[in-house]
Amino acid sequence: MKLLVCFGTRPEAIKMASLVHKFKESPSFEVRVCVTAQHRQMLDQVLDFFDIVPDYDLDIMKENQTLNELCGRIFLKIDEVMQNFKPDVVLVHGDTTTSTVCAWAAFHKNIKVGHVEAGLRTYNKFSPFPEELNRQLTSRICDYHFAPTSQSKVNLLNENIGSENILVTGNTVIDSLLWTAEKLNKGYENAAIIELKSLLNFDKKVILVTGHRRENFGEGFLSICKALAHLANNNDIEIVYPVHLNPQVQKPVMELLSGISNIHLIAPLDYPSFVWMMQKSYFIITDSGGVQEEAPSLGKPVLVTRETTERPEAVIEGTVVLVGTSSNKIIAAAQNLLDNTDDYEKMARAHNPYGDGKAASRIVEFLEN
Ligand code: UD1
Ligand code: UDP
Repeated sequence: MKLLVCFGTRPEAIKMASLVHKFKESPSFEVRVCVTAQHRQMLDQVLDFFDIVPDYDLDIMKENQTLNELCGRIFLKIDEVMQNFKPDVVLVHGDTTTSTVCAWAAFHKNIKVGHVEAGLRTYNKFSPFPEELNRQLTSRICDYHFAPTSQSKVNLLNENIGSENILVTGNTVIDSLLWTAEKLNKGYENAAIIELKSLLNFDKKVILVTGHRRENFGEGFLSICKALAHLANNNDIEIVYPVHLNPQVQKPVMELLSGISNIHLIAPLDYPSFVWMMQKSYFIITDSGGVQEEAPSLGKPVLVTRETTERPEAVIEGTVVLVGTSSNKIIAAAQNLLDNTDDYEKMARAHNPYGDGKAASRIVEFLEN
């Protein structure tokens, strides 16, 4: 079977890495990897760590790209790759512009499509934007649906997708996380980790922050930054914030938070350094999808700066709390975690609602059969 694995952003690369390696180990597949490079630097960091050399690199990223430009460039360039390689199956991941456009392009060429991380839903098309609609469109297009949890399978069944084409696999993010955590436990270290060790005072509580959602641009980011400044100015803590390279994020974050001595604004971390940083943090404030899935496995409480989540499992278990973007809510929730040990302990509980590290093997086995 000729298999084309397509991805383009940091989180897709992290979540497809274990699959690429598993497929390459199987004699049943001729595997080619196509990166759109919707992200450039943040994608390359992941490819390096997981030792993946793409067969095709569309190299489409432009600074401050719009969604429509992005779609246009991917459609134009992916067509030639599919024309040349003639895959039997195309695999896409999740909810990005890369995944939806690659799935759609494959459909136009009558090629079967498998969707990894299928079935996540908020049913609010503006939150997350544009990811919720990307997911729904991709589900309509795809032939095979690899759902990470039983809830995501139920969402797909409710949309009349046949159960014979849905497989609950767990999330491949946990495959990558466990593999990387084991490497760290065995003493893996790199330059970024060494730098973090000298930058941060780990005798203090360290809060790790990330943020990049389009629906939070503008007011949302201003309000989140205001809360972070307040927390830093009123507590003897350290805040470390690897700032996403999107200029819409860089500008407000740099303007509002540089110059506060216990807020460390740093470049995006490579994946193992970020996992190391999660392990060392007291808790995490984020709007990231992937981090919401990883942190529960590491026993780290998460405050999610979003109004909705398509990942309800850890919210129900009480280790992730949706705080939205209101400064007051973020400050109250974070201050409570800093001050109230009982409440902190209830949230700092390691559990694995998103997978057991064997998702990639299940997907490979399904397609082998
Ligand atoms: C994209 C995905 C989002 C995903 C996120 C993960 C879409 C519509 N959005 O959002 O679902 O959660 O990635 O991070 O698919 N940039 C760089 N270097 C990089 C990466 C980004 O300079 O390595 C800058 C560029 O100026 C680029 C901008 O960030 O134009 C936006 O990148 P884009 O992929 O369009 O949006 P993200 O916010 O990263
Ligand atoms: N991550 C990373 N370096 C960072 C921040 C995040 O490697 O500086 C990883 C994180 O562990 C997770 C993924 O990137 O696996 C999440 O990516 P992001 O938040 O950009 O996208 P989302 O998951 O929200 O789509």
